[in-house]
Amino acid sequence: MSVLLVEDDVSIALVITAALEAEGFAVTGCDSIAERDRLLDERAYDALVTDVMLTDGDGIETLGAVRAVAPEMPIIILSAQNTLDTAVRASDTGAFEYFPKPFDIDELARTVRQAVGNASARGAGEEDAPVAGLPLVGRSAPMQAVYRMITRVLRNDLTVLVLGESGTGKELVAEAIHQLGHRKAGPFVAVNTAAIPAELIESELFGHEKGAFTGAVARHAGKFEQAQGGTLFLDEIGDMPLDAQTRLLRALQSGRIRRVGGREEVAVDVRIVAATNRDLAPMIAAGTFREDLFYRLNVVPITLPPLRERPDDVAALARHFLQQAALEGLPRRRLSEDAAKLLASQPWRGNVRELRNFIYRMALLAREDLVDAEGLEPLLASVPTSSSSGEQVGLDAAVVSWLGENRPAAGQVYDAALAAFERPLFIEVLRQTGGNQLRAAQHLGINRNTLRKRLTELAIDPGELQR
Ligand SMILES: Nc1ncnc2c1ncn2[C@@H]1O[C@H](COP(=O)(O)OP(=O)(O)OP(=O)(O)O)[C@@H](O)[C@H]1O
Ligand SMILES: [Mg+2]
Repeated sequence: MSVLLVEDDVSIALVITAALEAEGFAVTGCDSIAERDRLLDERAYDALVTDVMLTDGDGIETLGAVRAVAPEMPIIILSAQNTLDTAVRASDTGAFEYFPKPFDIDELARTVRQAVGNASARGAGEEDAPVAGLPLVGRSAPMQAVYRMITRVLRNDLTVLVLGESGTGKELVAEAIHQLGHRKAGPFVAVNTAAIPAELIESELFGHEKGAFTGAVARHAGKFEQAQGGTLFLDEIGDMPLDAQTRLLRALQSGRIRRVGGREEVAVDVRIVAATNRDLAPMIAAGTFREDLFYRLNVVPITLPPLRERPDDVAALARHFLQQAALEGLPRRRLSEDAAKLLASQPWRGNVRELRNFIYRMALLAREDLVDAEGLEPLLASVPTSSSSGEQVGLDAAVVSWLGENRPAAGQVYDAALAAFERPLFIEVLRQTGGNQLRAAQHLGINRNTLRKRLTELAIDPGELQR
């Protein structure tokens, strides 16, 4: 099923293309009437979706030329000219549907499907959309608002602050802004300010000169320089120490950075996207987050709604993750409608991340290929109700979740998994033995030297685990 899309606003074209491709359509895009007519001469399309105000003319007035070559093709008109006049003109042409902008993408995709009369594009919603176009799944009204905000920042460099609870998809939004935006040819560099020791943050962000401090054996380009021409994603910005906040603010204000131990300043050309799951207002009040930095970052806030506020998205997300799980080699499962409903009624305090982990676990542990509500209940019962994101369940499930979250590189899966397993095990046993390695080795039933070697490799300090 093919659709010809005539739209000169690139960001809108991208979002529509993604939505239509997700519905199984092949989309050909163009941005002018001349191009439209040339494409229509070449081949037939199942539907035309067109904007009205185009650089070389009016998309409605010129529909005569379209009708001449494709009298039966359904036409769907989009327009920012949200006037009665355009609506009337659109219906005069016998267009299938008229959409005033901003429109609901979901609604548009549905309409195109109806127009084409294509019942087979997506059976009863059993198999979900292929993972194409927009990486974000979910068409609920709150997510539409998020998509609309994303389209507004694609063609400029305004700083974006992505807010939302843990696991709501903030990192995914940052990636989407980069991948769909005008800097997509440049690098996307993510830096998690919470994961870097305070004394190293400056050097991580701004780089350092050789000899700037003990251990600085060579000049090192910081994340700002690495992101040159692209996007710098400052994750967990609410956890950044005050000192580093001050440096960051200075860099953002001047558009220049200075490497640690360096003298000259380097101009940087990066788009900043920051994210946090913290509520910054009380932190500003308490003086732990700089108010001026907040205003610098909060140019365009995008707030991701918690999953419990968009239960309509749960089924689509669940089917999306089932598909991913199958691609990763887990058994291919399907969800019955009542099971999807049951999932949608859960609180998902860990948001999409928790749902994702649950679906992977379900793919592994379900008894039947078609999982219904009855099959789902015992699995849901194992979800600790108090958990937010980290869930403690059986090892089988933990391994599956871990694999999904961490995706170790091919050839390293076994070693990485083993290390991930040994670390909490050794720490726990050492804690029980008050940091005594000999007793820990005996308790574990492994050689003392083996334990010592592994502790070094895993950078576990038994001294810290002394009672
Ligand atoms: N709308 C979505 N569609 C598909 N996958 C999603 C969506 N939202 C989140 N995910 C997936 O859920 C997981 C968590 O998302 P992400 O890491 O972006 O969350 P976050 O908001 O950055 O959380 P945190 O605050 O804990 O860092 C990831 O595996 C991500 O791919
Ligand atoms: Mg994150």
